[in-house]
Amino acid sequence: MRPSRRQIIEAGALGAFSLAAGCERRRLLDGAVRTQSATSAAPDLDVVLRARPARMMIDAAAGKETDVWRFEGSRLSGRASAFSEEGLGYLGPTFRLRTGERVRVRFENGLGEDSIVHWHGLDVTEENDGHPRFAVGAGGTRRYDLTIADRPGTYWYHPHPDGRTGYQVHAGMAGLFLVTDDDDQARGLPASEFDLPLVIQDRLIDGNGQLVYAPNPMLGFLGDRILVNGRADAVVAVKAGSYRLRLVNGSNSRIYKLAWSDQSPITVIGTDGGLLGSPVVRPYVMLAPGERMEVWADFGRMPGGDDVWLESRAFAATGGMMGGGMMGGGMMGGRGLTESGLANGAAFRVCRFAVSGKAPRLPVPRSLSPVVWRPAEEVVNPTAPRRFRVSMAMMRWMLNGEAFQMMAVAPNERIKLGVTEDWEFWNTAGMMTMAHPIHLHGGQFQVVERTVAPAWRAVADSMSEGLVDDGWKDTFLLRPGEQVRIRVRFARHAGLFLYHCHNLEHEDMGMMRNFRVES
Ligand code: C2O
Ligand code: CU
Ligand code: CU
Repeated sequence: MRPSRRQIIEAGALGAFSLAAGCERRRLLDGAVRTQSATSAAPDLDVVLRARPARMMIDAAAGKETDVWRFEGSRLSGRASAFSEEGLGYLGPTFRLRTGERVRVRFENGLGEDSIVHWHGLDVTEENDGHPRFAVGAGGTRRYDLTIADRPGTYWYHPHPDGRTGYQVHAGMAGLFLVTDDDDQARGLPASEFDLPLVIQDRLIDGNGQLVYAPNPMLGFLGDRILVNGRADAVVAVKAGSYRLRLVNGSNSRIYKLAWSDQSPITVIGTDGGLLGSPVVRPYVMLAPGERMEVWADFGRMPGGDDVWLESRAFAATGGMMGGGMMGGGMMGGRGLTESGLANGAAFRVCRFAVSGKAPRLPVPRSLSPVVWRPAEEVVNPTAPRRFRVSMAMMRWMLNGEAFQMMAVAPNERIKLGVTEDWEFWNTAGMMTMAHPIHLHGGQFQVVERTVAPAWRAVADSMSEGLVDDGWKDTFLLRPGEQVRIRVRFARHAGLFLYHCHNLEHEDMGMMRNFRVES
């Protein structure tokens, strides 16, 4: 039914518009066409994205299907390769667009409650950003028209309704949005079947195979089953060759300290905003909720073609009074505070790579894609950065003592379009601190400096070597006792955007604020 209707539409439209779309893209890249004027020509991709309940096999060993909410897609027009309707597991369709292309999405809300889609990491207009004020009710629709202006990299999409983001993402609502520029082969990067996205999430699954959403107001939601691409106990079949792994932390609250079980170091080639200038090598990498990391993996390295595990190692996610932290979660992480007993910072295995068959083992390219930082001289407030403090009142996490209000913008939350500023996030207040993944809408920024107060150094250092600030970021891990300086510039779109903790339960409880970009 569905395919044939689609084929009919395509047969009529494809020939005419693919030509037009190609020109549109080229003109856009030349800088001659801006987002607004591009809306008249046909888009490169036109799709429907439907949120609705479904049943999926998540835990094959238990043999019971699980009720989820998920995004389903259908392609109305455009390249088939730009939109895989079959997402990974319960995850929604995977978008695969080139920089400069334009995609039109019609979101249909088939859930029994408000929802809205946000394109995490993409630099889009405020109407397209999925702010909770645009949420549509059950049966409602919202149209998006995105022109991809972002560096090639791994982005993702998820719902963003006020107070229900954690629940909806937990129920299964998320998908990948990959941006490419067709130069990966020229860069010497593994492509096609050797380019593997791995979306990591944790869940609690009951005896009937059903998801249990049991968040803790302070810590967020922590499950004891680790899912990769929507499957529990994931085994990833690979050949004994080189791979590009696109790691996405799609978990609500869990932070991962990812390492190889054979003790090999991790070669990082990209962060939130795409490829690094050149690869960096780390003993392990930290991946907080919302963050992405691209990793080079050589599965031909094991003698005898042995399997290898991606594991998460122990670290201290919280610090108490005087900064004392404990591996595996510390004072707040014990049983009773997390439903699952698998604390943030506990050690566990993420997935097994089952190696069989040969594949090319490629040399790691020495340069990837130049990262051109904003010059320090451009910063208008070098000695007086804007300051945002993590705070807590009545057992709720907040920012600068304020909780989210739909339209509220404080005086220090107004910024001029096109101006480069330094912002500082402080996580030092209070009796107790924990790590928070801080995320800004409105595009990518640079992490300039990290400072940890002496009392918290031991806690923070359980993560230090795994932080990769060498590339563009839209989400960064703010450790207990730390202050982080970032350099921002909102150059393309004026309007109302969000910054928030990407611990989704913290976000839902109000650890989120607006900022206004003024032209
Ligand atoms: Cu990934 Cu405002 O969120
Ligand atoms: Cu976002
Ligand atoms: Cu938080």
